[in-house]
Amino acid sequence: MTESIRIYWMTDLHLKDSVTGQPEAEDAIRRERHYYAAKDKLWQAVEMINRDKPDCVVCTGDMNDSVQSFATFAEAWERVPGQKAITLGNHDLNNDYSTIVDELGYGDRPVISGSHFNRSFALRNGEVQARVIVLDTNIGPDGQHRSNVEGTIQEDAFRWLEEEMLGCAEKTILVFTHNGLGGPAKFFDQQHVERFMKLADRVSTEKPGTHIYNMAGHHHVHPTAVVKEIAPHFTFVNGVAMIAEAVSYINIVSVRADGGIDLDYSEVRYNGAG
Ligand SMILES: [Fe+2]
Repeated sequence: MTESIRIYWMTDLHLKDSVTGQPEAEDAIRRERHYYAAKDKLWQAVEMINRDKPDCVVCTGDMNDSVQSFATFAEAWERVPGQKAITLGNHDLNNDYSTIVDELGYGDRPVISGSHFNRSFALRNGEVQARVIVLDTNIGPDGQHRSNVEGTIQEDAFRWLEEEMLGCAEKTILVFTHNGLGGPAKFFDQQHVERFMKLADRVSTEKPGTHIYNMAGHHHVHPTAVVKEIAPHFTFVNGVAMIAEAVSYINIVSVRADGGIDLDYSEVRYNGAG
């Protein structure tokens, strides 16, 4: 088999404990969001990950739909083996940031550019290499976390991104965020998008052959991801939202030996369990 790096990526789970396993309950469904099925799908994803053993697992936020404990998510997330990373979404931040950090057990983790969730690490499988950057886009100009439908990247986060993207050895850079840099304009501060695009230009000029991908959720797409090639060196991927419908998908990202990526999906389905 040709070598590749496999990343299992879930986004927009929207757990809602009050209606878990109760499709008939009031508020069990709102538009595409099948809340009653969310926990079932999460645990299927965890089982699948334990069986398939991907190189890395990323969750890009909106684990919770509104104000509730993160215990339901944390219990499942703890069962995910190996290299893994999460970032928060605007819905998560209806809860207090420091409470979320405590409930997820992230209190002892280093804070990078104002977030316990910002992370940068290399993945390698034989000759295939990729850089994973997980970026928190929920921080306001005052440095505080907030629930905002518009994603932001503050000054110190831009400095960190620049260091990581210019400094890393890998030519395939996957930047995972909740809000998408190439999605609907209302979902990201467009001045920040412009600045990110300039940074991406600089990275590809200084390190020829580099390709940057932004892998995001927030805007719920289903049943397949939306892929936009925005520049020769920059591609935007809006992943499938796991909350969508009774049957949804975990996104599977494979980084090929030539540095490109392939997208695939593995089904998660409501089985009627709580
Ligand atoms: Fe969401």
